Amino acid sequence: MVDVILGLQWGDEGKGKIVDYFAPGYDVIARFQGGPNAGHTLYVDGKKTVLHQIPSGIFHEDKINLIGNGVVLDAVTLKRECETVASFGVDYKKNLYISERAHLILPTHRALDKASELAKGNEKIGSTLKGIGPTYMDKTGRNGLRVGDLLDKNFTTQYIKLRMKHQRLLDNFNFGEDITQWEEEFFEAIELLKEFKIVNGEYFINDKIQQGKKVLAEGAQGSMLDVDFGTFPFVTSSNTISAGVCTGLGVAPQKIKEVLGVTKAYCTRVGSGPFPTELLDETGELIRKTGNEFGSTTGRPRRCGWIDLVALQFACMINGVTQIVMTKADVLDGLSELSVCNAYSVNGEEKNYVPFQMNRVPIEPIYKHFEGWQADITNIKDFGSVPDKMKVYIEYINRFLGIPVKYISNGPGRDQLILA
Ligand code: GDP
Ligand code: IMO
Ligand code: MG
Repeated sequence: MVDVILGLQWGDEGKGKIVDYFAPGYDVIARFQGGPNAGHTLYVDGKKTVLHQIPSGIFHEDKINLIGNGVVLDAVTLKRECETVASFGVDYKKNLYISERAHLILPTHRALDKASELAKGNEKIGSTLKGIGPTYMDKTGRNGLRVGDLLDKNFTTQYIKLRMKHQRLLDNFNFGEDITQWEEEFFEAIELLKEFKIVNGEYFINDKIQQGKKVLAEGAQGSMLDVDFGTFPFVTSSNTISAGVCTGLGVAPQKIKEVLGVTKAYCTRVGSGPFPTELLDETGELIRKTGNEFGSTTGRPRRCGWIDLVALQFACMINGVTQIVMTKADVLDGLSELSVCNAYSVNGEEKNYVPFQMNRVPIEPIYKHFEGWQADITNIKDFGSVPDKMKVYIEYINRFLGIPVKYISNGPGRDQLILA
């Protein structure tokens, strides 16, 4: 049996905290897509830490953590992260398994990501520059190198062949940066990678399921960044939605049970691309400040705006969401009025679906307004103590989506979660 936790917006919904919270109820926690573009924040013993490659179950003793075949892996980031995790006293080599089919991010993939973004100028995606796009391109282009290839005696030859191919592309971009140091770090880091439990992920996970073990699949990015269903081309290069669990771990769709969709009580986006409910005024600024909305991976300020129920409903549909987790509700504590987008106006016509190209048509959000609860909710433990005005806000979202908001996160801490 597999349950899924994934983001319903443009990433950074608080997935890391939620996975960490639910991890004790599972045996295996598995990442199925994305790579070090992810930044999942957790508080362990009150201390903040950010995971990019390792699943968010790593801080729970005796939980198996799997990096699935759908993930793209940066050995250098992994090495650094292992050092951080070890500083918390975690024996990461014991509990971390890596699929031999996961693709390797090479130094030249990072260089290509940078070169491609520079070439795009004003039309850049706003990529995290971690090499994600070029690595997935080499996967679908059938050129990439995988974790299992590291164990092949011809690995260096294969590496040099692909590197030469990349160099020709970099020359086309007129990219002249010296990446010698990146390569030195890479070859050092793959030595550590080889020491991990490199497994056939699909047999590994299906054996666990067969034995009755519970698997929690941890999504990265968010549904609106999905390569097929997101705001293309301003998306990431993987399937971030629940279907990605099947291809990214090798599990059949019938094995998936609960799909927990995580959404903020408002909305953010980092990087370029359409964002209909973006607030470019002082309210947006206030949310950014209160919510500390700065990227966990790149430190960039996140764009902030109101919750977008049109996009959220779309995300629930394509993911088959069964329960909603609403995070960062406390960030709205001080606001006197809240808005919720429940339709788009396109050329004066009301629409309730996500258009083909969000930035090709002028979208005006249609809002319903709510009174803010204006109370500190960070210490609330039970739904009964939640302010009435907040209940009205949540009730509206429940009814609109037809899916229950089951959990409300009211602070970054591990214990700050209210069962609704
Ligand atoms: P992820 O990528 O989805 O795991 O999310 P990030 O870690 O990138 O960003 C979420 C940020 O919000 C982190 O700094 C979390 O510590 C913080 N956070 C998570 N849940 C809450 C919450 O309910 N309230 C507040 N104030 N912060 C939260
Ligand atoms: P988590 O897992 C928010 C965004 C980038 C950029 C676009 C493409 O922490 O929620 P990429 O490097 O993937 O080629 O960038 O996607 N992006 C994220 N935004 N959270 C993330 O991950 C993201 N991962 C990528 O900002 O707009
Ligand atoms: Mg993040």
